[in-house]
Amino acid sequence: MDKATILKSKSKVADDAAIAILENKIANAATGLVKINELITQFAAYAATLSPTKAEPPIANTVVWSPVPFAGTATSDKPAAGLTFIDLFCGIGGFHQALTQLGGRCVLACDIDAKCREVYEANYGLKPEVDVTKLDTAKMPDFDVLCGGFPCFVAGTQVLTDSGYKAIETVSLEDRLLTHTGSFQRILNLQRKTGTPSLRTLRVAGRTNPIQCTEEHPFYTRTKGDAPSWQPAREMTTEQYVGMPVNVKTDEAAVGALEVQRQQLAQGLLCAVDGASLDASVAFFDGGYAWFKVESNETTVGKLQTVYNFEVDHDNSYCVENTIVHNCQAFSHSGKQGGFEDTRGTLFRDCARILKDKQPKYFLMENVKNLKGHDEGRTWATIYRSFTESGYTTYEHPVVLSPHQLGVPQHRERVLLMGIRNDLAPPVLPEMDPLSPPPCNIRSILMDDAAVAVAAAGTALTADDTGILDRWEEMVQHFKALGTRGVKLPTFPMWSEEWDGAYPLTKEETKPEWKAKFLTQNREFYRAHIAFLGPWLARARATPKFVGAKSKFEWQAGAFLSDDSLWRLLFQFRPSGIRVKRATYSPALVALAQIVYVGEKRRKLCPREVARLQSFPDSFKLPATASVAYKQFGNSVNVEVIKYAMRHILTKMAPR
Ligand SMILES: C[S@@+](CC[C@H](N)C(=O)[O-])C[C@H]1O[C@@H](n2cnc3c(N)ncnc32)[C@H](O)[C@@H]1O
Repeated sequence: MDKATILKSKSKVADDAAIAILENKIANAATGLVKINELITQFAAYAATLSPTKAEPPIANTVVWSPVPFAGTATSDKPAAGLTFIDLFCGIGGFHQALTQLGGRCVLACDIDAKCREVYEANYGLKPEVDVTKLDTAKMPDFDVLCGGFPCFVAGTQVLTDSGYKAIETVSLEDRLLTHTGSFQRILNLQRKTGTPSLRTLRVAGRTNPIQCTEEHPFYTRTKGDAPSWQPAREMTTEQYVGMPVNVKTDEAAVGALEVQRQQLAQGLLCAVDGASLDASVAFFDGGYAWFKVESNETTVGKLQTVYNFEVDHDNSYCVENTIVHNCQAFSHSGKQGGFEDTRGTLFRDCARILKDKQPKYFLMENVKNLKGHDEGRTWATIYRSFTESGYTTYEHPVVLSPHQLGVPQHRERVLLMGIRNDLAPPVLPEMDPLSPPPCNIRSILMDDAAVAVAAAGTALTADDTGILDRWEEMVQHFKALGTRGVKLPTFPMWSEEWDGAYPLTKEETKPEWKAKFLTQNREFYRAHIAFLGPWLARARATPKFVGAKSKFEWQAGAFLSDDSLWRLLFQFRPSGIRVKRATYSPALVALAQIVYVGEKRRKLCPREVARLQSFPDSFKLPATASVAYKQFGNSVNVEVIKYAMRHILTKMAPR
């Protein structure tokens, strides 16, 4: 595809005049007069001057996909030619894609997840090693670039919040956590400690991931014959079963919990919620809980680790990896005692160990944005010190980049750690070029409908969900029509079940406080528009399955545009409600969260489209199961982001 076509596909408003100007300038660019990046900046500035209420063109039925969404990246350009690299924590090979496209050659990959290794080998013909902590640098081949998206082993643990599963280190005080009573509760205190504690690794039936925690961390557990109790991890035996609340209550919070579990089930991440299909040899259902057998319990001693905990309101418990655990008192009481070194866990230490021993020319690592501010900057300070002590020059502050800044329709901010061996480094590292994000549109990654029908059965909206969305669409259209009189949709979450509630909104009735505030706003909104909302609510309640999370609505699309409709926007079914966004870019893919639905197509993104959101080419062989694909791409890196960073290292930090 030529550059003009790429720019056309990236343009939010396909304005012929603008394209003509660009084509003219691109001709000049080809002769070296104007850089393509400047053109994109100019075009973005031009697009911004267009009327903000001008309607977007409908999403075409057939969209030609360009696997080169970033116009500044030419495939013929191979700055990594002749370089070898290793791919630590390789997943399905986002780094591998990026570096080989730039001309590099992979000499070693490593991932502990067997399904990732399978996909990696099928695509690249290279069998990854299993465990980074076991890699012996004396036996490793030499290489030029160390790549790795290092996880924090104990960090990374999935915690069930009111907006779905989140990695433990990204949970904030705004989240609420599902407790053992089946309700979501406030977090009173986020806790973290780094040191060399003895850890337990528990494997539990039906879970992909092991659970790693401190020896004393209490779990809600029982044997088949006994009543449940709290027991420290070190005392758990394979006779025991750990619990997960299911179908416990009918109040708003429990419905949210069930919705999360339903989604987990649909993705094959949870065994069952009703007991009917539990594998009786490893699980059973009793008293509102599904109980899963502990399969092994091992101890790991003496490594530097960061461990996380929460203090949770009322019920003093929360759920990790589909398993109830208690607030860890031992943790809470230890507070900020001395003797803990301040870094982020063993797996970064393994990257640092390999870097120090092997002394490659460059490194490029990726991590969650949170790394930057983690522990008030102390974690980053330790990582930075480790790089400089190993003989590398790197930026004093980690760089943050998201695919949407390169024209790929996904918002996914991640930190990039880029380094160069001191003997190759310039006296002062050049700053990264400022980016002028081009307009994005989800259209640029959509497949045509016929291909989706073949590639991804099961992505279409159900009849019930369509009926529910049609109801909400009536409301959107009503308020859009009033928009000319300055009436907007509320920015607070709309909880239709509460609109005509009559119970008093005192703190005792509605605790916590934020909830009382939402409820008051909701009731006021309803009263202000009762002429329309009264009959609408009656129709909505008569609509099948218009309950729980689906009776809640979060409008995050801002002021109305003239042709706004749910059937032209993006939405997600979240435990907190149906969230609506503009069709510019998808929220970040994460391993366990809800895949976005494209209104115009009346379906969610299929695995191939999710691969495109991570800028994997269409030649990439996907895993056979959709749920595995969604998870693997959610964990992966965006290929264009890595290419952009690697290009910067090789052409700006250290021109070769
Ligand atoms: C954030 S993902 C990295 C994804 C990868 N960069 C990609 O593009 O797909 C982290 C990976 O680390 C792997 N992992 C965790 N602990 C590991 C260990 N001790 N050794 C090797 N891999 C490990 C996980 O299985 C996971 O695939």
